[in-house]
Amino acid sequence: MKVLYYNFGSCRNHTFLNFILYKNTNKEGIPIQNSKYLEFLAKFGVGGAHPGGLNLTKELFKAENIGENPYILDVGCGTGQTAAYLAETYEAKVTGIDINSVMVAKAKKRMKKNRLPVKIIQCSIEQVPLPDHTFDFIISESVLSFVNKPNALKEIFRLLKNGGRFIAIEFTIHQPLEEKIEKEIKEFYGFDSCSMKKDWVDLFNQAGFKHIRIQKNKSIFSIPELNHSEDIEPELYEVMDKHFEMILKYEGLLDYRIYSCTK
Ligand SMILES: C[S@@+](CC[C@H](N)C(=O)[O-])C[C@H]1O[C@@H](n2cnc3c(N)ncnc32)[C@H](O)[C@@H]1O
Repeated sequence: MKVLYYNFGSCRNHTFLNFILYKNTNKEGIPIQNSKYLEFLAKFGVGGAHPGGLNLTKELFKAENIGENPYILDVGCGTGQTAAYLAETYEAKVTGIDINSVMVAKAKKRMKKNRLPVKIIQCSIEQVPLPDHTFDFIISESVLSFVNKPNALKEIFRLLKNGGRFIAIEFTIHQPLEEKIEKEIKEFYGFDSCSMKKDWVDLFNQAGFKHIRIQKNKSIFSIPELNHSEDIEPELYEVMDKHFEMILKYEGLLDYRIYSCTK
């Protein structure tokens, strides 16, 4: 099994890579509700759909000073794998938010099945119906590239308590991409923009964050979890194939970094 960028998994003879989803519309006007890529990920119910998967999440939280019963927000929580882990492991008071209704339904089902008191809210990270200074930690795992980053970071900053920590595992390019390539990547995945490390640092600084740290961890890998819907349209397998083609075609260009910072 080869690991190119994100985690590969396999299903019904298709190999695929866990990747990311969309927001309402990106700059090119791709609507989230009509995004086939979003449907593909949601309908397959990929848990741990970020580089390194749950094992990387575990390592990142081990390195933090968690304290007792912290309040944690998982933005773009998907099917809720990370939120459930944090609630179980740290007896944390966890909230997960996600814009996609299929993801939200799967996350809620997980919490109910495991009797976990995790709140799951369907909303956008760009406008969260929760009060200022609520959380000790906020985590974003492969979400910010799909949203308006300044808006999302402003909300994340608002929702964090003073001294609170923000951890993000996010798509990062190493150099500006050729216009044609960038367009193809953005259109297929629904990225709002493709950012380099320095762009991310500027964004965190502009939002008011301090002590920005960038890490790279290529050695951690997790087998992705799948929770299929019963009604997977055949065309979503084609989306998966196209996604795999993109990964092979742009191997080396698509990468990620782990960012952490403090309010
Ligand atoms: C690649 S998935 C990652 C899911 C989860 N963080 C994980 O690692 O398994 C990206 C998630 O971000 C969500 N998302 C995209 N745009 C969003 C937005 N504007 N607000 C909240 N969630 C969003 C998608 O619905 C999707 O569940």
